[in-house]
Amino acid sequence: MSAPNKSYDPVEVEALKPEEIERMRDEALAAFAAADSLDALHEAKVAHTGPASPLALANREIGALPPHAKAEAGKRVGMARGAVNKALATRQAELEAERDARVLVEESVDVTLPYDRVPPGARHPLTTFMERVADVFVSMGYEIAEGPEVEAEWFNFDALNFGPDHPARQMQDTFFVEGPKGDHGESGVVLRTHTSPVQARSLLDREPPVYIVCPGRVYRTDELDATHTPVFHQIELLAVDEGLTMADLKGTMDHMVQSLFGPEMKTRLRPNYFPFTEPSAEMDMLCYVCKGESVGNPDRPCRTCSSEGWIELGGCGMVNPRVLVACGVDPEKYSGFAFGFGIERMLMFRHNVEDMRDMVEGDVRFTRPFGMEI
Ligand code: PHE
Repeated sequence: MSAPNKSYDPVEVEALKPEEIERMRDEALAAFAAADSLDALHEAKVAHTGPASPLALANREIGALPPHAKAEAGKRVGMARGAVNKALATRQAELEAERDARVLVEESVDVTLPYDRVPPGARHPLTTFMERVADVFVSMGYEIAEGPEVEAEWFNFDALNFGPDHPARQMQDTFFVEGPKGDHGESGVVLRTHTSPVQARSLLDREPPVYIVCPGRVYRTDELDATHTPVFHQIELLAVDEGLTMADLKGTMDHMVQSLFGPEMKTRLRPNYFPFTEPSAEMDMLCYVCKGESVGNPDRPCRTCSSEGWIELGGCGMVNPRVLVACGVDPEKYSGFAFGFGIERMLMFRHNVEDMRDMVEGDVRFTRPFGMEI
């Protein structure tokens, strides 16, 4: 800023000449009119009204004028600045209105569009069925137990009294994650071939009495076909307490089939062998379709049980004392029973599913008829 100068004529100061002020004002108005966005307008605002704008600089020159000249120059600059600010506010309002209108269109939601074109998913019937079965046991006071699917070979076999050369350990049946190590055949790692290792885990975890039910996924080296799948589901049951007998096992199983299939259902036992139960048995249940009436009755054949009257459920037996010992339970004091069966098979005959592959393909046409339970 120059120092006051008595002989100073505003008209002589370049920046304060009327035509200069007009030019500055018109340039500002043109710049605002040309701004086609709020960002562009902001730039024009800084250039034409900011502290370094020509009009602001001209304003500063006024201070250097002699008092008698200040008023006129001040009025001229003030009017130009007023016009510029007004034009700025008008353009600002216009551009904001345009933006708001655009956003309203871009972000509009058509509330009349159907909201449910994508049907809700359904839980897989295997899951819901497995939960129903587990619920039967939970209502009897059993506790749900779980174990890992990638399991130590020791839990899957050794603790369950499978000898070192038992054929089930072979690569043909078992997916090995890590083979046995060392000269003494230290335990390898497998994908569990059944839910029975959870028996051993539960006995090591808890003090008897133990009443557990374990639903879970198991693995065997089978090709996927109409009746096999390399990944399937089992439910394991284990009860260890004082004085349990085979009659308790049978009574528990009768209760299960009656809860799932109706009050007239019953089970039967056929001798079998498992290393971890002694004695062992195969458990059958009465065919829930013909209730045994198709047996020896060619007029009433039954597809579900092939007219045999019984359907195979799964393996069971009294827990082998060797398993109790391996898990630190005194076999003199405690006895127990165990039961294990495949869910896929049970679901197949319960719902006449003919091909196992339908259960794993995830086609909603298979799951839909089971209901949309979520
Ligand atoms: N784990 C056995 C199987 O997979 C079934 C079974 C469970 C047998 C419990 C006896 C007791 O075939």
